[in-house]
Amino acid sequence: MSKQFDVIVIGGGPGGYIAAIRAAQLGFNVACIDEWKNDKGGPAPGGTCTNVGCIPSKALLQSSEHFEHANKHFAEHGITATGVKMDVAKMIARKDTVVKQNNDGILYLFKKNKVSFFHGRGSFAKAVEGGYEIKVAGAAEETLTGKQIIIATGSNARALPGTPFDEELVLSNDGALRVGAVPKKLGLIGSGVIGLEMGSVWRRLGAEVTILEGLPTFLGAVDEQIAKEAKKAFDKQGLKIELGVKVGEIKTGKKGVSIAYTNAKGEAQSLEVDKLIVSIGRVPNTIGLNTEAVGLQLDERGAVVVDADCKTNLPGVWAVGDVVRGPMLAHKAEEEGVAVAERIAGQHGHVNFNTIPWVIYTSPEIAWVGRTEQQLKADGVKYKAGSFPFLANGRARALGDTTGMVKMLADAETDEILGVHIVGPQASELIAEAVVAMEFKASSEDIARICHAHPSLSEATKEAALAVDKRTLNF
Ligand code: FAD
Ligand code: NAI
Repeated sequence: MSKQFDVIVIGGGPGGYIAAIRAAQLGFNVACIDEWKNDKGGPAPGGTCTNVGCIPSKALLQSSEHFEHANKHFAEHGITATGVKMDVAKMIARKDTVVKQNNDGILYLFKKNKVSFFHGRGSFAKAVEGGYEIKVAGAAEETLTGKQIIIATGSNARALPGTPFDEELVLSNDGALRVGAVPKKLGLIGSGVIGLEMGSVWRRLGAEVTILEGLPTFLGAVDEQIAKEAKKAFDKQGLKIELGVKVGEIKTGKKGVSIAYTNAKGEAQSLEVDKLIVSIGRVPNTIGLNTEAVGLQLDERGAVVVDADCKTNLPGVWAVGDVVRGPMLAHKAEEEGVAVAERIAGQHGHVNFNTIPWVIYTSPEIAWVGRTEQQLKADGVKYKAGSFPFLANGRARALGDTTGMVKMLADAETDEILGVHIVGPQASELIAEAVVAMEFKASSEDIARICHAHPSLSEATKEAALAVDKRTLNF
């Protein structure tokens, strides 16, 4: 006899576990299936984000930032810190504890919300009247039947053709978060989000880091002025980023990894490193889902095809998160998960793709929401721009971190905020104000007239809004 559910969620990452909780809150009888295993073979829900993504990468970024502060910045505060050492094994163990706290938190939330959790791989068996039969292959085999199915199976790291990940020398994000000792020389391919975050971690700990990027432009999706400012800061830190390269043969051996490439001038080069992280994007994951059994439509990238409401080509089957179109971000996956659960309940769940924030957790942090200056130009939109440097912000000076700026773009006629771009301290937190403002269709004048606490970094956002009308007070 199969177990009956109103909603079955396949995948327990941010898209899946949040969809399951919201569906349960709405009164449905919900199952969530996730196959991730911890090092003891037990369940580890939370997906890529919790296990080998957002959470562990931020734990390592934090540890490495403390190390860098102790080594390079304490002295200017009058603090003497001699003999500062990094115990990499301890740093990794701390990261693992943080991950486990999050895994356990999700299992607790499932219990609290009466979501039935199944540890194993979920796959489509067949369509049945009024739903679908889903097999779970785990420690035990089970068959579940669900009226509505939400697919949230996430994504996997893309490997370079002919160079599979061995997680010893050629690392995906998984291996990059488990390196046991600081490599003397570290290579990365791709100066996207993972390349910059992971490159920063190991550079701060003493590795000589070189990032090879295929595109001629640095962070092409980021506002040009902000990307330029960030690049300046990374150059100063000694993060070597080579743009416009073409990667050729990669050889691994006892001495490490050798990468043949041509540089932007077309000259043949080679890079010898102890370890190589390949961070060239991710591919949607439907491995083992047995989509053929029910005729689920996938696109040429292997992503599940969905409409604007996350509906697939099959009645009662939805898909959310990295496995569908759109940015591969945990908060995007979560919003889609909530919206789908609400749509199943007959409500009007909604995700505003124009106000999804992006954050790169480097130092300085880079964060943005809405359109960049180059996008507005391409779209033929008339806009006004205002920016304010952290150099002129009292709190940033007190922090000793004055790199970067807040930049605001507003419609030339209506003054509605069209984009906010930040490079600098705490950009990840500051961007929230811009997201709220844009959700409420605020004008730059609205932000300019709001009282911001002094001294705070958020005053830079107010000043950027004032700058849109050319009336900054502190610059
Ligand atoms: P996932 O988190 O990938 O979860 C999918 C889950 O489904 C996994 O547990 C998988 O094991 C399970 N699964 C797959 N197939 C099956 C099956 N057939 N049966 C059962 N279970 C299955 N995003 C941010 O917003 N902020 C960040 O700071 C950030 N940092 C990142 C850092 C790194 C290094 C990486 C790699 C990614 C980062 N991301 C970040 C991206 C973020 O991790 C993803 O966007 C997010 O995890 C997507 O959520 P998801 O639920 O769609 O999929
Ligand atoms: P990415 O898409 O951010 O960057 C990949 C980079 O690799 C691009 O700059 C691309 O031009 C380059 N590239 C691709 N093929 C190449 C090749 N053959 N040779 C040289 N360069 C090549 O992908 P990344 O960094 O792997 O991260 C995957 C996704 O994970 C991100 O897009 C993001 O959605 C998510 N993520 C989010 C984070 C955050 O929100 N802070 C942190 C880390 C990851």
